[in-house]
Amino acid sequence: MCGIIGYVGKQKASAIILEGLKRLEYRGYDSAGVAILHGGRFEVAKKAGRVDGLMKSTSAQKITGTTGIGHTRWATHGGVTDANAHPHVSSDGKIALIHNGVIENYANIKKFLLTKGYTFKSETDTEVLCNLLAYHYEKEPAVAEGSRFLESVRKTLRHIDGTYGIAVLCTDCPAEIVAARKGSPLILGVGDGEYMLASDVSAIISRTQNVVYLKDGEMVHITAKDFSISTLDAEDISPVIDTINWKIEDAELNGYAHFMEKEIFEQPTALENAMRGRFSEDGSTAQFGGLNTTASEFRQIERFHFLACGSAWHACLIAEHLIERFARVPVDVDYASEFRYRNQPLANSKLFFFISQSGETIDTLAAMREAKRKGYKVLAINNVVGSSIGREADGGIYQHVGPEIGVASTKAFTSQLLISALLALYLARMRDMSFSDGVEFVQALKGTPDLVRKTLLLAPAIKEIAKRYAHYHDFLFLGRLSLFPVALEGALKLKEISYIHAEGYPAAEMKHGPIALISEQCPSVFFVPSGEMFTKVVSSMQEIKARKGKIIAIASEQCDLPDGLADDVIRIPECHEAVLPIIATVPVQLLSYYMAVELKRDVDKPRNLAKSVTVE
Ligand code: G6P
Repeated sequence: MCGIIGYVGKQKASAIILEGLKRLEYRGYDSAGVAILHGGRFEVAKKAGRVDGLMKSTSAQKITGTTGIGHTRWATHGGVTDANAHPHVSSDGKIALIHNGVIENYANIKKFLLTKGYTFKSETDTEVLCNLLAYHYEKEPAVAEGSRFLESVRKTLRHIDGTYGIAVLCTDCPAEIVAARKGSPLILGVGDGEYMLASDVSAIISRTQNVVYLKDGEMVHITAKDFSISTLDAEDISPVIDTINWKIEDAELNGYAHFMEKEIFEQPTALENAMRGRFSEDGSTAQFGGLNTTASEFRQIERFHFLACGSAWHACLIAEHLIERFARVPVDVDYASEFRYRNQPLANSKLFFFISQSGETIDTLAAMREAKRKGYKVLAINNVVGSSIGREADGGIYQHVGPEIGVASTKAFTSQLLISALLALYLARMRDMSFSDGVEFVQALKGTPDLVRKTLLLAPAIKEIAKRYAHYHDFLFLGRLSLFPVALEGALKLKEISYIHAEGYPAAEMKHGPIALISEQCPSVFFVPSGEMFTKVVSSMQEIKARKGKIIAIASEQCDLPDGLADDVIRIPECHEAVLPIIATVPVQLLSYYMAVELKRDVDKPRNLAKSVTVE
């Protein structure tokens, strides 16, 4: 949600910032803008629409100067207009600011600033913050210019309720940026004679792999030669410089048409990376390096609680199924956004898991802090090393699948399912699962990448099916047990990127309402496993067929489907129960992707969405 970038160095800042904005665009793509400090004043170019539009505008390309900030917006306060795009400049022309987050008390501050003669050009909360800063800067005693700038930002932020990641320029301070964060991510890149700021590493990876992850409540003051970090309470912080282990190619298309396509086809390798080093030497269980929880602590846990948002919430539902089925420990699952305010009674011997690809989703982060505040141990399953959730958790498991750029989650989701299966195995082997069952489970997990490779070979056939179904307006996705969350994920994928209405339901529950939607115009996608649920699912399919509903069946190879029951059948390989949700997910990713392509949707940047939702 909103991408932030800043640059102080010797190069032309606008070119570096525009390139960074392209890479950050997946965080928000309503509008984009840059402000460069040059000759004691700001040169600003900003525009509603994509970064490409901004790049084509001659003003953005021409801006000279070696210090600047840039922003891609996901609108909260105020519509998608040029005026509401960031950066905002204070009405006295002294301060320019970019912001990711929400200023909750902006209305009162605006009233106050109007009485002081400040004027506003936009409807945003950010312009209010910018003018408040100008007000404090004006009042701040003129000690050394740099510290006057820093201290006025510090003072301003003490008056702010809400969340922010900000980067600020001041006309009196060439080659300086002050930035701060509370609730929104911010990273400092330490380059060769230059410094960069960004809301995530993809924006700066082409220039440096050395970064400082700022913590909530921290500020950084960058000058031409140096930087210093302090807290909002003016306490100095010694920086820790980390090295990013991504390569620039990880964040590029490499010949694919879309990041979503690339990330779907990367899944075999991604899953190999997610399980590397995670099997015990005796080959009967899983092992994790960072859970910071002993086997005896795990044994004392009577309930687990899994929380997340979006696709990661679907992963929680599958984790629930796997842990309850194999480890026989009860699991509760909640939307992170609901948990935070629900104040439900919680058992004592509980352990929390938070699943988040980005590690920055504000609802998940806030729920994690709430569980922590209540005294619980919190663990994370997370992809982005150095993210807020990764750092604030008491321990966790990194997904290790590299950057996921497509807004619709694919490889991150299936790796969350794989890690959930590993966790279920690990917990089950601490309890009643036998050595030989453990060995069989491990073998099944090790075979997953190859089964995904095999499933991906279905892509051309699925593409043809997608072309024939892309013009329907409503779909049902139906599955049972661990395939019910896969049905939810399938419906979400289709909605997200093709804008076709779709609902996921437990297959048997369909007759309690959704069946009213069935007609020749509303196809159903059924997940059909072999085994005990097969005949039950076939009965549900018969009920749809009797009402002239079209059916796409995603069926395991050995399912003996009655002739003519499904209009189209996608055969997936037979596999272990713990692996089935992963294998069944791949065809729905492909189906949604090809339907969206057929409808000429902007697959990687679907309307209204953002990859990482850092506002409530
Ligand atoms: C957004 C994305 C989803 C994602 C969800 C949770 O809504 O569009 O694809 O599943 O956030 O993101 P997280 O980074 O916490 O997994």
